[in-house]
Amino acid sequence: MKRTILALTTLTLLAAAAQARTWDQIKASGTIKIATEGAFKPFNYFEGKKLTGFEVDLGTAIAKQLGVKVEWITQPFDNLLIGLGQDRYDFVIASHGITPERAKAVDFSDPHYCTGGAIISKPGGPKTAADLVGKTVAVQVGTTYLDNVSKIKGVKEVKTFPKDTDAEAALMAGRADAWVSDKFLGLDAVKSMPGKLVQGDLLFQEKIAMAVKKGNESLVKELNASLAKLENNGTYAKLSNQYFGQDIRCR
Ligand code: ARG
Repeated sequence: MKRTILALTTLTLLAAAAQARTWDQIKASGTIKIATEGAFKPFNYFEGKKLTGFEVDLGTAIAKQLGVKVEWITQPFDNLLIGLGQDRYDFVIASHGITPERAKAVDFSDPHYCTGGAIISKPGGPKTAADLVGKTVAVQVGTTYLDNVSKIKGVKEVKTFPKDTDAEAALMAGRADAWVSDKFLGLDAVKSMPGKLVQGDLLFQEKIAMAVKKGNESLVKELNASLAKLENNGTYAKLSNQYFGQDIRCR
């Protein structure tokens, strides 16, 4: 018994002592490890076996600008910030909105885009917060969509799904009256299924940023400097236009 307690304490201490890699250590290793989800089109998704999207291209451009190679790691959305705490990768770029709650657990970079949570439904379905009263709403678990929809009084049921694409599928299959997701992602979905989906009101706005392990100041500094360079040298605008037909940076 004593031994077990001792072993457990040692493990806990080791875990706590594990340090996130500083920028100097990452640079010396030659490779930065970036995590994302891979199921949030057009931000981070798979095209066949290839991980791609605005955030994947942006992350790759940041690594290139910083002069290191990149290793991509994909994780379910709900695990991404936890893995950061366990030093499984150096930073996360997966459309995380900056929230006070998340900011207790991780440190955020400057925002890499500004957006909002929008209502998406089938033609004739709910379009406003008031329309959601008495309705079933599908959202991805662990998201700001869940937090915000939960605050609306009178919603009949909020159904949560591991992936945003599952929430979309629930709407399409008639198991939900509305889906709440990113406004740019929604526009993309509406465009790819003409006549099948419509985008309603924005429920809230948010700033999206990259996350590093709490206290990794040297890395945040490099990420911010690199993002600023890409915003100033046209790289950001080119990528944003390619994926969205507009520049989605915060203004
Ligand atoms: N912007 C929303 C949030 O901050 C959703 C992010 C979902 N990202 C993803 N890769 N599925 O919670």
